[in-house]
Amino acid sequence: MKTKTSIIGAGNVGASLAQLIAYSGLSDVVLFDIVKGIPQGKALDISEACPLWNSSVSVKGTNNYEDTAGSDIVVITAGLPRKPGMSRDDLLQANAEIVRKATEEACRVSPESILIIVTNPMDVMTYLAWKVSGFPPERVMGMGGVLDSARFRTFVAWEFGVSVEDVEALVLGGHGDQMVPMPRFTTVKGVPITELLTGEKIDSLIQRTKNGGAEIVSYLKTGSAYYAPAASVFEMLKSIILDEKRMLPCAAYLSGQYGINDIYAGVPVVLGRKGVEKIVELKLEDSEKKKLEESASAVRNLVEKLGL
Ligand code: APR
Repeated sequence: MKTKTSIIGAGNVGASLAQLIAYSGLSDVVLFDIVKGIPQGKALDISEACPLWNSSVSVKGTNNYEDTAGSDIVVITAGLPRKPGMSRDDLLQANAEIVRKATEEACRVSPESILIIVTNPMDVMTYLAWKVSGFPPERVMGMGGVLDSARFRTFVAWEFGVSVEDVEALVLGGHGDQMVPMPRFTTVKGVPITELLTGEKIDSLIQRTKNGGAEIVSYLKTGSAYYAPAASVFEMLKSIILDEKRMLPCAAYLSGQYGINDIYAGVPVVLGRKGVEKIVELKLEDSEKKKLEESASAVRNLVEKLGL
C-alpha cells in the first residue's frame, strides 16, 4: 500500500520537499496551504513532471484539511521564514499560532500519523506540536540536526578538499544559535577531524555551521534556506517510510537522556516505521555535556515564554 505524506505549508520548503518525494516515487503527497491556489498550482506543476520522472505517485494541492486525512506522515512547514537580521527565535509567537492550528487540524484527521516539524524556532515548535497532538513522543520529531550536520559536512569537505560523501558530521542540541557541532564525532572516512585540522580551523568551521542559516538569509534577503532543509526532511522521511533505521540527529523528546528532561533537543536517534525507535546516548565529555545542556536550556526558555 502506498504511503501518504501531507505537507502543511506549500512554500519554499514544502514545495521543494513535495518535488523530492514525487521525483523519488517514495509516497503520495498532499500539499496544504491557507493561501488559495498556491498548493493546487504547485501540485499540478509537480504532477506534470511525474511522467518525465517515471513516477506514479499522486500529488494533490488543497486548502482543506480533510484532504490530508489518513496520512502516515505529516510534515509541518507552515509559518513565516526569517528576514535578514532576524534570529529563528524572533519567529516565536507568530509561528506558534500557525503550528498550533496546523497540528490540531492535521492530527484530528490523521490520528495515527508521524509528525515532523520544520517551522522555526523548530525545537520549540516541536514541543508545542507534541503537546497539542497528544501523540506519544516517538511519533513527533523535529528537523534540524540533519540540516546542521549536512552544513557541517559541506564545510569540512570543502576545507579538506574531499568528497562530501566521505565526511560524516554530528551536530547536537537546539537548531538555533546554541547548536552544538561535535568535532570528535565528525570524521573524514572515519578519522575524526580533531586529528586532521587545527583547533582554530575547526572553530571557524563550527562558526560557519552555526551561522549557516543566517548566511543564506543574508543572500536571499526575502526568505530562508529551502533546498537543504527539504533534502533533510526527505532523508528522515525515507528512513521512516522504508524502515531503514538510519541513525540521524533529530529533535527528539528527552526524558532523562543526556541528563535532560521534558524538552525537545537534537540528539542521534534511530528512525524507522514507528518513528523515533531509539535515542542513542553518546558518552560526552564534560565540556560537550555543558554545551548541550546550555543549548537545551535556551530551548526551555522559549518553551516557557509560550507558557507551555
Ligand atoms: N496554515 C497553512 N499554511 C500556512 C499558514 C497556516 N496557518 N500560515 C502560513 N502558511 C504558509 C504560507 O502561505 C507559505 O506558503 O506557509 C508557507 C511558508 O512558506 P515560505 O514563506 O516559503 O517559508 P519556507 O521557506 O518554506 O519556510 C517555512 O520552515 O525553515 C523554516 O524558518 C522557516 O519557519 C519557516 C518554515
